[in-house]
Amino acid sequence: MKELTLTIPIRVFSYEELDEADRHLIDTARETTRRSYSPYSRFAVGAALRLIDGTLVSGSNQENAASPSGLCAERTTLFYANSRYPDQAVDTLAIAARNERGEFLSDPISPCGACRQVMMETEKRYNRPMRILLYGTGGIYEIRGVSGLLPLSFDASAMK
Ligand code: THU
Repeated sequence: MKELTLTIPIRVFSYEELDEADRHLIDTARETTRRSYSPYSRFAVGAALRLIDGTLVSGSNQENAASPSGLCAERTTLFYANSRYPDQAVDTLAIAARNERGEFLSDPISPCGACRQVMMETEKRYNRPMRILLYGTGGIYEIRGVSGLLPLSFDASAMK
């Protein structure tokens, strides 16, 4: 028997420590929570991404009375970006969320498994690490590639 230990490098920044472009991305993700359609969970999530050419795309979670028909903010945003700008890799994706009291979370928002899988495919598709910024009022996590969110991930290469 041997034991494997995986290490995930995460840098934790305060808002002021981020550069202007990342602050703007975080501001956009925060602001986009206002456009969430989340009457069922009352959990408002906003995502904002920057493509390598500098274009910003944002999106929020969109719920539905038939709950599986809704979609998280991350996938709303990534699918729109990939369909509108299929030739542009995603440089950085920022995510922010407010709870049912309308407060931003103090701990960084943690994306769901399905969104992590979609992030992984986006990263693989463009063969370029995608930075992820997870916003919390107490600190912002910077993860410098999707493998940091989804170790031991499944992808198409496993089927060959
Ligand atoms: N949600 C997101 O949009 N992103 C996440 O990272 C976590 C969860 C949404 C899905 C649903 O609309 C609501 O938050 C509660 O799960």
